[in-house]
Amino acid sequence: AQNERDSLFIALKFAGEFFQDVLWNHSEGKSIGLSYFKERGFSEATIKKFDLGYSLDAWDGLMKPALEKGYSEEILEKAGLILKSENKTYDRFRGRVMFPIHNVGGKVIAFGARTLRKDKKQPKYINSPETGVYHKSDIVYGIHQARQAIRNEDLCYLVEGYTDVISMHQSGVQNVVSSSGTSLTKEQIRLIGRYTKNITVLYDGDAAGIKASFRGIDLILEHDLDVHAVVFPEGEDPDSFSRSMSSEAFQQFLKDNAQDFITFKTNILTEGGKNIDPVKKVAVIRDVVESISLIPDGIKRSVYIKSCANLLEIDEQVLISELNKILIKNR
Ligand code: CTP
Ligand code: MN
Ligand code: MN
Ligand code: MN
Ligand code: MN
Repeated sequence: AQNERDSLFIALKFAGEFFQDVLWNHSEGKSIGLSYFKERGFSEATIKKFDLGYSLDAWDGLMKPALEKGYSEEILEKAGLILKSENKTYDRFRGRVMFPIHNVGGKVIAFGARTLRKDKKQPKYINSPETGVYHKSDIVYGIHQARQAIRNEDLCYLVEGYTDVISMHQSGVQNVVSSSGTSLTKEQIRLIGRYTKNITVLYDGDAAGIKASFRGIDLILEHDLDVHAVVFPEGEDPDSFSRSMSSEAFQQFLKDNAQDFITFKTNILTEGGKNIDPVKKVAVIRDVVESISLIPDGIKRSVYIKSCANLLEIDEQVLISELNKILIKNR
């Protein structure tokens, strides 16, 4: 019901403000949460821009003041803020730095929460569950802060994590959103597609990141958006990499290294052109043509086929007949 949605929004707004108040004004928040963000290189302006916060390391750090303010346990639970077991009710987020997730209009709908412990005993991030106002697959992190810039630049950078979005803003790149670790969905692509038809994928420079970028690229192509990708050095993500250089250098890096998806996939599959073993080459061609076959627009398909033919030094007609075979098979 509309009433319940409104109650959830109000409770989530309260929680977001409370976590911020703790971060800036409470001794535990300042000494642990705020110093963590500062040590990571986040400026105070950046911390405020993303409404970052801190959850106290206690069972009722949020619940106690929320109940005092008149929020019911039922609403707090439905908002994903507290958990109930048979014999106790307690805060979901404890002793973590808090990343509020906003909808397009800027309302808080969920939280991501990062542990500050170095041990691997608990998950690095805990996120809000699905609720009446939070459907993970429908939203991308950072869309509220990014949407105007995405329109202006007519381009959206897509990254894996919360901190990638935040560090890129601090490096002057504001047209960036994150799929928050989960694999990209069609709803997320449609959401981005309201603002631009161009996505550049910036996934972590590791095997998982490359795999995720391949899957993301195919899904983006299927939805008739144009896609580029940037490869980051092994072990780097946009957050770590952007902080290792000046804003200007980082922005230049993005411009210089954005490859169209065919070049990107070909380079990775052939290990930068080193691997030109004919057997391997056939597999690479198949893979790239499969991606091209997903594009709904026939003119784009033929442009990409031409570029693929040049890049892989193979006869265009051969690619066209291969493409047609795939198209017929998938019809
Ligand atoms: N993620 C998650 N739960 C986890 C691990 C990751 O929800 N247990 C999501 C988070 O949205 C995270 C993203 O996946 O931001 C990318 O994960 P990862 O690269 O491991 O984290 P970073 O964002 O790089 O975080 P940090 O730099 O703080 O280590
Ligand atoms: Mn929805
Ligand atoms: Mn990763
Ligand atoms: Mn990462
Ligand atoms: Mn990181």
